[in-house]
Amino acid sequence: MEGYLMPALLLALHILQLFNHINPCTATGKTNTQYIKRSCSVTIYPRLCYHSLSIYAGKIKTDPKILAHTALNVTLAATQESSVIMRRLSEIHGLKPIETAAVLDCMEEIGDAIDELQQSLDELGHVVRGSNFWFQMSDIQTWVSAALTDEDTCMDGFEEHHLRGRVEAVVRRYTVNVAHLTSNALALINSYASSKAALP
Ligand SMILES: *[C@@H]1O[C@H](CO)[C@@H](O)[C@H](O)[C@H]1NC(C)=O
Repeated sequence: MEGYLMPALLLALHILQLFNHINPCTATGKTNTQYIKRSCSVTIYPRLCYHSLSIYAGKIKTDPKILAHTALNVTLAATQESSVIMRRLSEIHGLKPIETAAVLDCMEEIGDAIDELQQSLDELGHVVRGSNFWFQMSDIQTWVSAALTDEDTCMDGFEEHHLRGRVEAVVRRYTVNVAHLTSNALALINSYASSKAALP
């Protein structure tokens, strides 16, 4: 019996050591994802926020600026993707001219949103502490709000003409997702601005 005990004990010790090696990493990983979860709780769409950002936890760590930057990056990428989808939709043969026009109108709004998000990202990359900080953050907030407004007006053409159906449904799905991501990014930008304000 005792002959089996030693190897078993050694194996148990070995496993414990393995856990000791693994633990610090998972603990930090957990802190990072918890930070994202906590930060996302101030947004209007916390689940979307968490799902879109948690894969970048290792890069974001607990840095509110990188968090805001990543949220803007994710938003811009989704907005660009929507624009591609809308262009393809507008090229479908057999759409009613009024449907094509509504898709193209929406695509134009999305194009404006892309410019504004791009501008915000450029500026966020140049934000520095000091007297300019508030001007820069205020510009960024203005541009991201403008992007949100553009996205919100995207469906106007469809609503005005009571257009329903598959094209409208696809445009709506993409537009809503992009608007929710933008709203979340704006909330995280506001959090970053106020976290800086809390600094001495
Ligand atoms: C944002 O995207 C750019 C270009 O795609 C990349 O270089 C940058 O590292 C990203 N920043 C963050 C914080 O994710």
